[in-house]
Amino acid sequence: MVLLFYSQTSKHNIMANVKFFSGKEIPLEMHKVRIVQKLSLPPVEERVARMNEAGNNTFLLQNRDVFMDMLTDSGVNAMSDLQQASMLRADDAYAGSETYNRMTAKVSEIFGMEYFLPVHQGRAAENILATAFVKPGDVVPMNFHFTTTKAHITRLGGSVEELIVPEGLEPINDCPFKGNFDIPRLEALIEKVTPARIPFVRIEAGTNLIGGQPLSLQNMREVAALCKKHGIKVMLDASLLQDNLYFIKEREEACKNMSIREITAEIASLMDIIYFSARKFGFARGGGIAIRTKEDEMRMKEFIPLYEGFLTYGGMSVREMEAIVVGLDESMDEDVISQGPKFIEYMAQELHKRGVPVVLPAGGLGCHINATEFCKHIPQAEYPAGALAAAVYITSGVRGMERGTLSEQRNEDGSERFAELELLRMAMPRRVYTLSQVEYAIDRIAWLYQNRELIGGLKFVEEPKVLRFFFGRLAPTSNWQEKLVEKFRKDFGDSL
Ligand SMILES: Cc1ncc(COP(=O)(O)O)c(C=O)c1O
Repeated sequence: MVLLFYSQTSKHNIMANVKFFSGKEIPLEMHKVRIVQKLSLPPVEERVARMNEAGNNTFLLQNRDVFMDMLTDSGVNAMSDLQQASMLRADDAYAGSETYNRMTAKVSEIFGMEYFLPVHQGRAAENILATAFVKPGDVVPMNFHFTTTKAHITRLGGSVEELIVPEGLEPINDCPFKGNFDIPRLEALIEKVTPARIPFVRIEAGTNLIGGQPLSLQNMREVAALCKKHGIKVMLDASLLQDNLYFIKEREEACKNMSIREITAEIASLMDIIYFSARKFGFARGGGIAIRTKEDEMRMKEFIPLYEGFLTYGGMSVREMEAIVVGLDESMDEDVISQGPKFIEYMAQELHKRGVPVVLPAGGLGCHINATEFCKHIPQAEYPAGALAAAVYITSGVRGMERGTLSEQRNEDGSERFAELELLRMAMPRRVYTLSQVEYAIDRIAWLYQNRELIGGLKFVEEPKVLRFFFGRLAPTSNWQEKLVEKFRKDFGDSL
């Protein structure tokens, strides 16, 4: 793993525009490495043992046993030199802290909203928003759910309605904005449920669970207009906004000549509330809620000291808050925000060329492998995406994250709720891995694809009721992992 320092801001989006004489399309990093962290790669026999000690759940692996950590992009993005430098001036006064003032001023500069509440991460914002606004029987429409968002809404007796366009659930098609709302369905839902039972409509930028797919600015305008017409609040989950901003600029004709800041301001002008996980949007660890009206701020404010910490830090370290202030500025820089999507696009295209089924067009956040296709022979009840995650780790020491049925909660009656998509997400922490490391991951995954028939299913041996994918433990349904190791040794000799 490499910690990369971003040292200066350029005027042009260089990464997206440099052409190579060879004609190859290679994403060019616009930063250089100044601090590194040593990695190790245990041999395949050890990897299979570690995977089983971890209950075949990549969340339960120890980092010392992982070569490339592609579990998530959350809180693991490399910081810039300017972020590190800013941490030294943090003001840790409990009340009236300058760090808080700087963070509030930056959020309000970027989103144009007057009020700001700090929280320790994204799901903490979701807890507070749900606690303040959701009542039993309420319905929250959204383009797609996120695990923690849904858990907080359902915990309070509300339910979630997903209104993604049909293309969003097709692994491969040409749609540039697979994260868009299906507007006629939103309209029909509002009619049916009535605005009184809809506390807010939630827009998720860079829709996580369907492969980091973006929505267009135009779609957000239509959602906001509909909400306004019916007097419903509109809320943006901006955790993955930086990728979405890049895609809007790249793919939405009307936005080609707008700056990233202008696009952000335009999006923010449509919203009543914007919350974010700064573990993603902000390149550090924390979160926040930007609010347009005093009335909404008052509804949520009292929960901050109750659940998070005093209003000046909301559970965050002041040093992280300073890093977020700089990170938010960097999120407005196209050279910075294009790095993730460009690397992801590269990985997805290279896998696609080798026949590996991936989600296309590639989204943000990570390269998503379609486990339904990859592991056609594994029934959905045996968690094909979870099995693939275990197999990828055994094969490569690279850890990804299951985003399929394992990540769902069972229905009330205990039956499985099968996910629409069975994906293995190979997250791309920003500014962390080099292209040769990405090439290694591509190579091992391509080998696994050639040997996919060897992968078998998984079954639960310990299954928590809520958010089971975090702590659940599973076992292979047969001795398929031993056979996979045997084949690895046969093909790779004594290679790690
Ligand atoms: C879209 C989205 N919303 C909310 C969250 C929750 O944020 P956190 O992990 O900081 O709690 C995440 C985290 O992955 C996310 O991707």
